[in-house]
Amino acid sequence: MSQKTLKPIYVLNGPNLNLLGVREPEIYGYDTLADIEARCKGLLEGTEHDLVFRQSNHEGQLVEWIQEARTDACALIINPAAYTHTSVALYDALKALSIPIIECHLSNPHAREAFRHHSYVSLVAKGIVAGFGSIGYELAIRAVLTLVK
Ligand code: DQA
Repeated sequence: MSQKTLKPIYVLNGPNLNLLGVREPEIYGYDTLADIEARCKGLLEGTEHDLVFRQSNHEGQLVEWIQEARTDACALIINPAAYTHTSVALYDALKALSIPIIECHLSNPHAREAFRHHSYVSLVAKGIVAGFGSIGYELAIRAVLTLVK
């Protein structure tokens, strides 16, 4: 067991991702958010970072968690779901962060409807992982571990 002496990695998930595994599995896959959280936690075993993994259907709640991450996290991975394409509030909150922000999507929004092609979050993201399904979260964790080393 390693000591978790460094700041945690935050993973925030937006609306409808609580339904992962049952919602449009042909697009988003069969893994649940709990499955993804467990795998991300596994990746952090043996590191000094803990995982803070949360989901909300509410924009204001996500804004508050982003503000919390500003002081309490070493990096933020965020799948803002539909708010990716609509939320100036999330964009403004993210702009106040000086830690690395990774945008993560299960699907590839650019291969889908035109309204998904624009992302407010991409404007402030260090990098984007999209289109690889649930393993995208693990790829994002790996990227963060390299970035914060
Ligand atoms: C999503 C893509 C968004 O366009 C969509 O609204 C989601 C999930 C993804 O992970 O592929 O809810 O962020």
